[in-house]
Amino acid sequence: MTRMLSVQHPDDPAIAEAAALLQAGELVAFPTETVYGLGANAFSAEAVARIFTAKGRPSTDPLIVHISDLDMLPAVIDDLTPLAEALAPLWPAPLTLVLPRGSRIPPNVSAGLPTVGVRMPAHPIALALIRAAGVPIAAPSANRFAHTSPTTAHHVYADLNGKIALILDGGETQVGVESSIVDCTTQPPRLLRPGGVTAETLRRFAPDLVIAEWYATESNVPLPAPGMLLKHYAPDAPLILFEGTDQAVREAIQRHADERVARGQTVGLLLAEEDLPHLFFPADQGRMVHVISLGSLHDLAGIARQLYAGLRAMEAAGVSVVLARSYPALGAGLAVRDRLIRAAAGNVITLPNA
Ligand code: TXA
Ligand code: MG
Repeated sequence: MTRMLSVQHPDDPAIAEAAALLQAGELVAFPTETVYGLGANAFSAEAVARIFTAKGRPSTDPLIVHISDLDMLPAVIDDLTPLAEALAPLWPAPLTLVLPRGSRIPPNVSAGLPTVGVRMPAHPIALALIRAAGVPIAAPSANRFAHTSPTTAHHVYADLNGKIALILDGGETQVGVESSIVDCTTQPPRLLRPGGVTAETLRRFAPDLVIAEWYATESNVPLPAPGMLLKHYAPDAPLILFEGTDQAVREAIQRHADERVARGQTVGLLLAEEDLPHLFFPADQGRMVHVISLGSLHDLAGIARQLYAGLRAMEAAGVSVVLARSYPALGAGLAVRDRLIRAAAGNVITLPNA
């Protein structure tokens, strides 16, 4: 059985308890500002191996190492590249830097790569936990492999109950999508995964940053970054993503929904608030159509915050298919669009302009 402890403050006694478990090689899920992480002592190959087992994660998918203070960095990496020096002042932040791996970090953390992803999370509970443990903490998102990432302790429980020692419940996460990952070992630097720090912000610190937009399938190797499989972050129901003008997207979603309902399917619509007045379903179809609004198109950060809970709610509703709108690739929208393309596993319908 997995225990769940609520933590409100960085000095909550639950943190010392969680830190003791980490020191003993156990797994602890904890909140960060992005999504919940599944932590293990990053210096211990045995503890790290347990992460892969608990998640059902392939050993070829590297983990991110979390630090609480810059003092910890020399124990994790081999060399701070000039680019990393330019970006590290953003920490603590939803930002992971890929750097040469230090010798104290066992190879299984990085799936055998000579590099390691490192990040200092901007969450008081996460920072307090790492400090109390006194070691860097390797932590992937605390979901079963390839499932939607958890933004609440309840999401973690649903995926990992019985497989880990403890979940620290620090409430809903604020950013809602994972950290941005920048490979600092290449010239020019590459954004391997868009995330909580926008590309616009990153470019202020690294002007030549390249966005590695590349969606890999199992047959389409080598991957742009390990672990960047196309089918990832996916809900259990199939998802179809619609891209195009607002009007074209709304009309196409209405038409697809009508056709499926006519065939007796239940349909989930993952929309923005502004879409709602444009879609219409007769009252007798109400039970066939589940509509979730992620928020306003004018608040893409708000959409990012709601995204994963929306995907999980669709699963809970038991719909046979989810029809989702896409978002502009600007600001927080870049990460939202990336996660939706992956959740759709390539099932993207690009609509012509009207
Ligand atoms: O926001 C986050 O980053 C969350 C929280 C818990 O911190 N963590 C997270 O971890 O999203 P995870 O395991 O779900 O994603 C890790 C991904 C890998 O799949 C891979 O794409 C990339 O980070 N990664 C890690 N180490 C890498 C490396 N050495 N080189 C290239 N990519 C790496
Ligand atoms: Mg993950």
